Amino acid sequence: MMDMSAWIQPKPAGESVERKIKHYQQDGETTVYDTDIEFPYPDGSLIVSRTDLNGIITHANDVFVEISGWTRDEIIGAPHCILRHPDMPKAAFTDMWETLKRGERWYGYVKNLRKDGGYYWVYATVIPNFRKGQVIGYSSIRRKPARQRIDEIIELYSSMLTKEQEGK
Ligand SMILES: Cc1cc2nc3c(=O)[nH]c(=O)nc-3n(C[C@H](O)[C@H](O)[C@H](O)COP(=O)(O)O)c2cc1C
Repeated sequence: MMDMSAWIQPKPAGESVERKIKHYQQDGETTVYDTDIEFPYPDGSLIVSRTDLNGIITHANDVFVEISGWTRDEIIGAPHCILRHPDMPKAAFTDMWETLKRGERWYGYVKNLRKDGGYYWVYATVIPNFRKGQVIGYSSIRRKPARQRIDEIIELYSSMLTKEQEGK
């Protein structure tokens, strides 16, 4: 379990809504600021990161740093849930981790939170990295998602989130 207080998102200068995130892998709850402003995914770019076995970021490419709004120094060593958006259902991440723990790849749509409270959608492929038959960490490569798929996923995730919040 990690203390998340080292990665507190600063309150954005403009209008924002304060929202709570209940963490599943990390300890407790954090407060995040959501401006509901979408940041356009840069055309033709791949966003790449690598983590250790616990989801701590060990590598991030330049596009990752740019789109997340955090500096590279802040990102490296941070838990990947630093990008967790309050609109994301827990089930998406439990499915991701169960798939990775079986040694398989996971594909899915993820809404990520920027440091400035904005957001960006990605289509992510997350894979286990093997060395000599052992999983030594994970990589994620994201590309720009199709807008039409995002519209469907928004509905799906919102109904999943409602069910989770109602405790069903
Ligand atoms: C390689 C890799 C990449 C990940 N990328 C993201 C990401 O872009 N956004 C995100 O919210 N979680 C990502 N995760 C999942 C986080 O580790 C975490 O499970 C999730 O944010 C929920 O965290 P929490 O339960 O502690 O709140 C990634 C995990 C791995 C292993």
